Amino acid sequence: ATTLGAAAAERGKYFGVAVAAGHLGESDYTATLNREFRSVTAENEMKWDALEPNRNQFNWGNADRIFNHARGQGMAVRGHTLVWHSQLPGWVGGLDTSNLRSAMVNHINQVMGHWRGQITAWDVVNEAFEENGSRRNSVFQQRLGDGYIEEAFRAARAADPNAKLCYNDYNIDRWDYAKTQAVYRMVQDFTARGVPIDCVGFQGHFNSGNPLPSNYHTTLGNFASLGVDVQITELDIAGSGQTQAEQFRGVTQACLAVARCNGITVWGVTDKYSWRPGDTPLLFDGNYNKKPAYDAVLATL
Ligand code: XIL
Repeated sequence: ATTLGAAAAERGKYFGVAVAAGHLGESDYTATLNREFRSVTAENEMKWDALEPNRNQFNWGNADRIFNHARGQGMAVRGHTLVWHSQLPGWVGGLDTSNLRSAMVNHINQVMGHWRGQITAWDVVNEAFEENGSRRNSVFQQRLGDGYIEEAFRAARAADPNAKLCYNDYNIDRWDYAKTQAVYRMVQDFTARGVPIDCVGFQGHFNSGNPLPSNYHTTLGNFASLGVDVQITELDIAGSGQTQAEQFRGVTQACLAVARCNGITVWGVTDKYSWRPGDTPLLFDGNYNKKPAYDAVLATL
């Protein structure tokens, strides 16, 4: 195969990308997207602040623009993200416990209901743990306590029974790491108690201070052994040339080696629009040329 999406599909995986609605009018951007990728995540447009800036007032425009583009191309759509401490509108922080609980469940119901049956996987809860493995001190944690993650997953299952429900986080790639262990124990507990969870998303924002760990394959395999799928959800790797290419190759090999790794999503089409442009962390340069990292991923798939 000559594209990332087709090559991954031949291996039973998807290859996806994060998309921003504002770039869909740029012909090189959309041509690259349509040619190479078979799954789409909205980079910001399905976050709480974008969809529900005021309580129970929903703006679907930009999210639907991305969704409709992807579905029109026959691409899958990942939902990102329902419950997260960041990009959260101010009104949520002002709610007391019972109002926050009903607002969280309503947000899940309305958002998942809007695309019910048409989103392959949702990041139900994003980034709920600290580096030391304790719970992040978010408004959800403060007001609802430890049970909020499980409440969110139960609400999500009811809202769209066809979507895979993922827990998504960064720095859970190294097996011998407190945060990885904390997420692993949570998933183990959920599966043991029948709390609905189908997948774990590994964001994959790597750089020289946080490189791809040598036991990455072990981590993916250990989570898969709990009976959940694993997905690489936001891959970008700082660097250039063959050094960067080898790290992208390593991530690709790890996903191929784990049967329950469904696929890889890179966090943007081009370095030009990356959320960390100085890192040039993507597969296409600012002029939409294929980088050595692209060639390495395609050759490995
Ligand atoms: C980032 C977007 O790429 C930026 O455009 C935005 O300003 C901030 O959020 N983890 C996540 C993603 O789960 O939603 C974040 O996306 C990157 C880190």
